[in-house]
This record gives sequence, structure tokens and C-alpha cells, in this order.
Amino acid sequence: MTSVIVAKKASKLFLDGAVVAFRELNIEIAEQEVLCIVGPSGCGKTTFLRCIAGLTEISEGELTVHGKSVDGPPDGVAMVFQHFGLLPWKTVYENCAFGLAMAGAPAAKIEERVMHYINLVGLQGFERRYPYQLSGGMQQRVGLVRALAMNPSVLLMDEPFAALDAQTRETLQEELLRIMQLPEERKTMVFVTHSIDEAILLADRVAIMKARPARVKEMLDIPFGWPRDVETVRSDPRFAELRSHVWRQLQSPPKKAAAGSAL
Ligand SMILES: Nc1ncnc2c1ncn2[C@@H]1O[C@H](COP(=O)(O)OP(=O)(O)O)[C@@H](O)[C@H]1O
Ligand SMILES: [Mg+2]
Repeated sequence: MTSVIVAKKASKLFLDGAVVAFRELNIEIAEQEVLCIVGPSGCGKTTFLRCIAGLTEISEGELTVHGKSVDGPPDGVAMVFQHFGLLPWKTVYENCAFGLAMAGAPAAKIEERVMHYINLVGLQGFERRYPYQLSGGMQQRVGLVRALAMNPSVLLMDEPFAALDAQTRETLQEELLRIMQLPEERKTMVFVTHSIDEAILLADRVAIMKARPARVKEMLDIPFGWPRDVETVRSDPRFAELRSHVWRQLQSPPKKAAAGSAL
């Protein structure tokens, strides 16, 4: 299978090497694969997504998207942010249209695509509202429409549901699961989350990261195939096993080593 995103010994250092976001990361993500990344705060998850999106450059090693070294935002990559990243002075419609407008798409095409996704996520009727008039869940639906309307082949999601209450979060997980299984919406996805359940629900593989230095501690295959739905996955006995396995892996460093650490 073709790899869409390839990181080989990729490192990202800040402040002349004083801060290591991640070091010698090796990750290959296949076409239409969903990779979820879980790990402690500060282990470089956001920075890794930003490097894939071409918003910042790796310091050492290789990072390619569709076979090309990333040296600026690659074609076909869209990102959804934890804090939505909407423009408060623009309406829902204008926010959704923003990426396409920046790319110079004609107005008719923008309208067709934006309205398609507004309907798909249930935002119809809210086009002329402003972000402050929407609930958090609806604001993130706008973030999702803005990304999907670009028709990306790679979707990067940085804890997109972390700022939402538990119930809204579950609703959006279900909706995302439904949308990403539409044949025309299958994409390569990298999804960062702190929720183990969310990772197992959405992923083909889960990268369990560790901090200091940031590394992939385990690359875990998720045995649930496609199509899948929330109920079936949650009621599968393997779900509970995977959950506690990931939980244990994240409990690091082991208690003995932690005693002498500065944390
Ligand atoms: N622009 C920056 N300048 C300096 N250090 C940064 C910058 N961005 C991130 N870092 C540092 O890099 C590390 C990884 O950050 P980040 O990618 O945000 O982690 P995560 O998303 O896993 O919580 C942290 O120690 C953070 O403080
Ligand atoms: Mg982060």
C-alpha cells in the first residue's frame, strides 16, 4: 500500500535545540488510513501535525507528504484545530468558505461545496450567524466544514473535540465516524486525542507516544474493520481490553522511576 505521510528520523527542535518537540520520529501513514495519536501533553503531537501541514519545518530527518518533502503547506492537506480557529468577524458561511476563497475558487463552486458540507453536518439555517452565536459543538462543525470543503486527501485533527462537553463530544464522534465512512469522504487522517475511547473508536492504528524524549512507544493495530459504528465497537469485548492496554502504556514512567523525577 502507498504511504501518504512518511517521517524518517524526523526531529523538531526549538530554541536552538534547548527544547525537543520530538526526536527521530519514524511514522508511515498509508493512503486512507486513520492514525490516532495519544500521548502526554508536550510530547510533540501538535508540532508533528503542524510539520505535516507545512506550518513549521522539521529540524532534522525527512518528512514527506505524497512523496514530496514538506517545505510549505502541501496540496490536499487540511487541519482542524482544538480551539476551532474561526474568524469571529466572519459569518458561518464565510468561515466555511475561507479556505476555498483563499485558494481562488470561483464563487459558484465555493457555494456548491460549502452548502453540501453545511448540510452534511447539520448547520443549515445557521449560515448567516457569527461564531459567538453558536455552541462549541456547532463551532467545531464549522471547523470541520471549512476543512472538508477543501476536499483534502489528508485531514489533520488536533484534539478537535477536546474543548466540548462529553455529550457533544460523543455526538460529534458519531458524526465524524459517519462522514468518514462515506465512500467519497475516505481520507488519510491523523487524529490527535487525549481520549483513549475516541482513539480506539476512530483508528486503524493508534500511536502511543511517550514524552522526554518524545517517541512512539507502541504502534497498536485496532482490529475493528470498516464499516464500524459506535455501538458495535463499544460492546466488543476487545474494546475494554484495548482500552486498558493503552491506559497502562500511557502510565509512564513506571512508579519506581517516577520517584526520583522532577515531576
Ligand atoms: N513555537 C515554539 N517554541 C518553543 N517551544 C515550543 C514551540 N511549540 C511547541 N514547543 C514545545 O515543544 C514541545 C511539544 O509541544 P506540542 O507539540 O504543543 O505538544 P503536545 O501537542 O503533544 O502537547 C513542548 O515542550 C512545547 O513547549
Ligand atoms: Mg497539542
